[in-house]
Amino acid sequence: MEIDVFTLFPEAFAWFSAQRHVSNALAGGHELGLVNYRDHTPLSGRQVDDTPFGGGAGMVLRVDVVEAALRARYAVDPVQLAERRRVIALDPGGRLLDDALVDALAAEPSLTILCGRYEGFDERVVEHFASDRVSIGRYVLAGGELAAMVLCDAVLRKLPGSLGHAASAMEESFSAALEGGPEYPHYTRPAEWRGWRVPEILLSGHHERIARWRLEQSRARTAGGLANREHRPGDGPLP
Ligand code: 6GU
Repeated sequence: MEIDVFTLFPEAFAWFSAQRHVSNALAGGHELGLVNYRDHTPLSGRQVDDTPFGGGAGMVLRVDVVEAALRARYAVDPVQLAERRRVIALDPGGRLLDDALVDALAAEPSLTILCGRYEGFDERVVEHFASDRVSIGRYVLAGGELAAMVLCDAVLRKLPGSLGHAASAMEESFSAALEGGPEYPHYTRPAEWRGWRVPEILLSGHHERIARWRLEQSRARTAGGLANREHRPGDGPLP
């Protein structure tokens, strides 16, 4: 997998690139390229953005600047690029990122991720240069960088070898065994803390009964449980 992230803040990815599953993926031959729009701008003074036509607050990333950066990287017309490669514009109003989209993206040989800044992109970037418009949730971040890291994190951990082999194999069997539902609760030592006991079944050594219990827990969480519930102060601990 070859991922290129276009951003005004490539240095923001230093911490992310050093994370174990990311550095594992990179050591295993996957690539994470960072392209700074500013390095390729045709405008003077390294300008990349401009005030919105029609007025309003904030700045908009210019279409000519994004085109220049894409051309510098791929040496093709970005309109054609988007026809043969997933080019993802990160946009708070885009398609919500979920596990199915992450799976689809992880199956691609290459991805291009465009981070907006300030008020986002000139709309023509999204319309003509992007194959996808993706959001990580219905709230607005100051820029696409955190969203890009969320997307890359979710995609890279799906690639073979990025989590240890055992961990990824285990994960797969979990998701199948759990019917695609959320995970069951985990516990570790101490078996009792402040009177809070770990479920006895987990200490029993009955692997079959433990597996059944975990599946039940996962199902209970799916059925309008944990995943869909809002937790308010005073509700007490989650089940
Ligand atoms: Cl992809 N970008 C920004 N700026 N804010 C977001 C987002 C993306 N997804 C949720 N909020």
